[in-house]
Amino acid sequence: NNLKFVTLTCSLRAGSFNAAIAQSLPELAPAGVTFAPLGSPGEFPHYSTDIEAEGFPPAVLAMAQAIAGADGLIIITPEYNHSIPGVLKNALDWLSRVSPQPIAGKPVLIQSASPGKLGGVRAQIHLRQILGYFDARILNKPEAIIGDVSEKVTQGVLTDESTRQFLGRQLAAFSEFAAR
Ligand code: FNR
Repeated sequence: NNLKFVTLTCSLRAGSFNAAIAQSLPELAPAGVTFAPLGSPGEFPHYSTDIEAEGFPPAVLAMAQAIAGADGLIIITPEYNHSIPGVLKNALDWLSRVSPQPIAGKPVLIQSASPGKLGGVRAQIHLRQILGYFDARILNKPEAIIGDVSEKVTQGVLTDESTRQFLGRQLAAFSEFAAR
């Protein structure tokens, strides 16, 4: 089965651990799965109905179209202050305004990574709550909560073997889920 997943990386920093996780996914996924990175959510202006009234920013429409055309959306995010980064919330606020709604009914996989022990689990809880309102189809398990990530990424590459194997199993589960 050929599946196409789009990835949304929610850290804007050049040396992002979460971006390193996102970049590792294609080589860990089952055969037949292809990946396309979405544009940076940092390109979106801060949401305002005034801007929306003048027309959706092209970057928002391009992301919405890419999500609509994909078999699944993978969100890879850091945790900021026990929640999701503002840039991700802003992107979701913009995407929520697009019609037809690209995330409704869409298979969504959540991954988070942190140099801390808890791996961004609190951001995942908030993200699940928000995506529930979108009526997204979220994979509940296995969960990818990657703690101690600074010890698992070497020069921008995910090198920790057990994490690589785990993410491979999660992507296999998500592929089955998305194909259903
Ligand atoms: C953090 N960090 C962090 N880590 C965590 O586990 N829980 C948290 O609540 C927070 N809060 C937080 C707030 C802000 C404003 C910053 C800048 C950082 C640390 C964070 O996990 C760390 O900087 C990661 O390296 C960020 O992910 P990327 O950019 O490496 O993908």
